[in-house]
Amino acid sequence: MTLILKGNIISAEKYGELNIIENGYLIANDGIIEGMYQELPKQYENYDIIDYGDKLIMQSFSDMHLHAPQYPMLGMGMDLPLLDWLNTYTFPVEANFKNTDFARKVYKELAQKLIKNGTTRVAMFSSLHKDATLILMEELENAGVTGYVGKVNMDRNGGKDLEETTQESIDETIDWLKKANFKHIKPIITPRFTPSCTNELMETLGKIAKENNLPIQSHLSENTNEIKWVKQLHPDCPEYFDTYQKYGMWNNKTLMAHCVHSSKRELQSMKDNGVYVVHCASSNQNLMSGVAQVKKMVDNGLNVVIGSDIAGGDHMSMFDCVADTIRASKARNILDNWETGFLTVSQAFYLATSAANKFFDELPGFAKGNKLNCLVLDDSKLISATKLSIKERFERCIYNREDGAIVSVYSEGRKVY
Ligand code: GUN
Ligand code: FE
Repeated sequence: MTLILKGNIISAEKYGELNIIENGYLIANDGIIEGMYQELPKQYENYDIIDYGDKLIMQSFSDMHLHAPQYPMLGMGMDLPLLDWLNTYTFPVEANFKNTDFARKVYKELAQKLIKNGTTRVAMFSSLHKDATLILMEELENAGVTGYVGKVNMDRNGGKDLEETTQESIDETIDWLKKANFKHIKPIITPRFTPSCTNELMETLGKIAKENNLPIQSHLSENTNEIKWVKQLHPDCPEYFDTYQKYGMWNNKTLMAHCVHSSKRELQSMKDNGVYVVHCASSNQNLMSGVAQVKKMVDNGLNVVIGSDIAGGDHMSMFDCVADTIRASKARNILDNWETGFLTVSQAFYLATSAANKFFDELPGFAKGNKLNCLVLDDSKLISATKLSIKERFERCIYNREDGAIVSVYSEGRKVY
């Protein structure tokens, strides 16, 4: 099936450079992008066109780190640092996902909200519960979200209601992988973080990931007390990342959230191994974890993507997360005596869209051969004193949108909103 969208087409084709086609055409065949055109190619003259007029058609977002079972605790416990926040609020809330009816209700709403906000790809943590994780995958699939979901592994330090034995954690993961057969939502191996997983569990998870060619996601160097704790747990490891690398969970299909306090050696190893930094600006600020060197990491050639990290982050709109990322980069620049620079809107938009394409084996922007993931934005209700360019309208929309501004969302060519 051929899909032809007409409007003002905006994509992050290169880092820091927008490709804008005013009143252009974006064409996909069977969900795969065929091309972008200023004039409609002759061969499509007799096809139906979906005309979005003066609206903005832009890449939709990839939220590369968020916790689904924390959706019902958005905004809670924001005055606590990471480890206290986890024990006081997060683990008790996640324990509720033993109840599959509750999981169904929460995950249905979460999946629909993601789509409504223009997030079409995710790398998401579930809880340790296998059944709830399968429900989450099903609800995302039904709503039109694509990407990865992980059953969380935790066989220590979760308290009595949120902990598995090592054997349970392994058996449940294997059984989950057998049952996780969805078209658009795939499994990802998810040790919560080093303090949650014994060495024996880590070793087995590394093997499962390798044997099944599965990606991996976890947390890294988020908070200084967390880092101290990891040192105590692994006296043999010079640094936090060694605790993942040691078990074979450190490659170009690995996502590591936060990396606020990563040392030079840790960052160099991420670069050398193609490991992705998932920058979570809102969470880093809410839990006072610190101000990550987001721009410096990008400038040094690391793979950097963005996550909402709900509910360490308090909002799921990736428009807001892009703005948070820009503000965090500016705070870093101030702390660095104005020496490291800050991210522009188009640079941060790239991190929230095109940078993640690479993780999904795609090229940046609306490249030919990519799956068509886009959203259509109506900014006509935003009052302006002068006539703005498309670029100005786009930049403004990152910070400011009227309710209902997102009018349509396409995920892999399917109209899902
Ligand atoms: N580290 C381990 N678990 C979590 C979590 O749920 N959220 C955040 N922000 N950090 C973590
Ligand atoms: Fe997280």
